[in-house]
Amino acid sequence: MKLFVYHTPELTPTAQTPDCAIVIDVLRATTTIATALSAGAEAVQAFSDIEQLLQVSEQWAPDKRLRAGERGGMQLAGCDMGNSPLDCTPEKVKGRRLFISTTNGTRALQRVQEGPIVLAAALVNRQATVQYLLNHQPETVWLVGSGWEGSYSLEDTVCAGAIAHSLVEKTNYSEDELAGNDEVIGALSLYQKWQNQLLEMFHQASHGKRLLRLDGHADLKYCAQTDVLDVLPIQQEPGVLAKL
Ligand code: MLT
Repeated sequence: MKLFVYHTPELTPTAQTPDCAIVIDVLRATTTIATALSAGAEAVQAFSDIEQLLQVSEQWAPDKRLRAGERGGMQLAGCDMGNSPLDCTPEKVKGRRLFISTTNGTRALQRVQEGPIVLAAALVNRQATVQYLLNHQPETVWLVGSGWEGSYSLEDTVCAGAIAHSLVEKTNYSEDELAGNDEVIGALSLYQKWQNQLLEMFHQASHGKRLLRLDGHADLKYCAQTDVLDVLPIQQEPGVLAKL
């Protein structure tokens, strides 16, 4: 197995497809997707374009759908919720499809959606992601950070490092054997620096600061938890993720 970390979707090679692409948007899209599926959502359907989301979801019965829309950290008009994982309670999401469009996370999912295996990972479901890799041993794995509007996001790289770190711990692979690019080594170092201070790390990250300005402290606390959800969102058809 070889891991490749890409800090943003734009940095992924265009002429190649990995055996497995793992999209990471710790704050907050992939945390929200994992939480919704864990709380019993039927599936999560991701859109980069909000108009398309509204159009497609309109074809679903109102009691079978939930629309989540976020831009710049705030809820979009016409949606039932923004992008807070804390809104994904069983009472709200059970048996419904979550239609979601966010600033970066859903764009990252779209970027790799043609690949054979597409997963959504965050800190909350890090171990479920690692277990999938251990069970299936894909040859090439991309860890794709969602970033922020084309630029780097600290928390996504730390999460990529958390996945790589656990793989090193649970296998005979050395860091060097696992690393397909230098970014993997960088991600491992960052995770080792922050692993016991993930919430503090969010407080130094630009999107963490943005969410704090929007009163998102509870979201940050939730997203900083590691290995608390035994759920792995896996793409069933382009843009549609369900629980493995
Ligand atoms: C995104 O997709 O950029 C994020 O998930 C933003 C957010 O925190 O809602």
